[in-house]
Amino acid sequence: MGFEKSVLLGVGSYVPDKILDNNELSQNVATSDEWIRTRTGIKERRIASSCQSTSDLAYFAAQKAIKSANVEPEEIDLVIVATITPDMAFPSTACLLQHKLGLGKVACFDLEAACSGFLYSLDVADGMLSSGRYKCALVIGAEKMSSILDWEDRTTCVLFGDGAGAAILKREGDGPQLLGFRSGADGSNPSLLHQPAGGSKQPASLNTIKNREHFLKMNGKEIFKSAVRVMERATRELLEANGFGTTDVDHVIPHQANVRIVESLAQRLEIPIDKFFCNLDRHGNTSAASIPIALDEAVSKQIFKKGDLAVMVAFGAGLTWSSTLVRY
Ligand code: ACO
Repeated sequence: MGFEKSVLLGVGSYVPDKILDNNELSQNVATSDEWIRTRTGIKERRIASSCQSTSDLAYFAAQKAIKSANVEPEEIDLVIVATITPDMAFPSTACLLQHKLGLGKVACFDLEAACSGFLYSLDVADGMLSSGRYKCALVIGAEKMSSILDWEDRTTCVLFGDGAGAAILKREGDGPQLLGFRSGADGSNPSLLHQPAGGSKQPASLNTIKNREHFLKMNGKEIFKSAVRVMERATRELLEANGFGTTDVDHVIPHQANVRIVESLAQRLEIPIDKFFCNLDRHGNTSAASIPIALDEAVSKQIFKKGDLAVMVAFGAGLTWSSTLVRY
């Protein structure tokens, strides 16, 4: 018998061992622990080793999610990896991961929606499961952000970290239900946050390397303002479309970019800040991995009680945004 909603059967996450704290970072770039903490809330972040790629981080997160969902790897018939730091342009990180995990010859692809990527992937996986053609999805957000950061640019390198988070979804079983989704994008100003070179527009050349165009570039102030605006809208529209208001919300898992963005969002939504789960002090912004790592930590801390209503909401380069409503 089919279920009406997708069920989040299990989650898992992985972060590399190496901790880079603000003090260590400020030995190499002109910044300080005080500046980073007061402007962003970040104290430290994890950095992958030179022999770890995004699919390696995804592998450990996926193994934990598979175990926590109590499914057999052979049941998985769909793998989506959300990332902006794939192991390579092609083949997809999802294909590389399929082989590492020893999964069947099932559908695998990467999804690129920057920091909104994991929630976009839940939206897509839910649609594919609801078609009846797929039964069990492994959805991952994984990033090695350290591989695209300009470690000489203090306005960006202090903000990001590496890690991965994963979830297993089915249309049956016991677990929280995914009630609804809201994803959108505004592609009118791509240079607000981008990696200019390395694609077909500007293939790698001596000049692109000399001009440091393979690194992430960002207009932080504009992104800040847009982030608050689009996450407020994505949350309100999601709640309204599913017959809820902001007072019905028990928990919010926001994209972990900057604590001041989270505080502004809480104020605009008039949802008490203590309902927002934050771990960005320890991880920084891990892009597509941010929400699933936070979700896994929130589950481990047992913050969700049966019946609780939770919103996950993210924004990212594109600009993209996405929100997911979960009933525990
Ligand atoms: N250390 C010390 N000083 C710094 C640093 C640093 N790391 N970075 C910038 N400064 C300086 C600036 O040069 C500037 O100096 P000036 O006044 O002499 O020119 C001063 O600090 C203030 O800089 P602002 O950019 O105005 O600082 P702001 O308060 O706006 O904070 C920040 C900057 C943290 C980047 C903020 O704008 C922000 O968080 N924006 C959102 C970024 C974000 O969320 N990005 C992720 C998007 S998700 C994705 O898809 C990847």
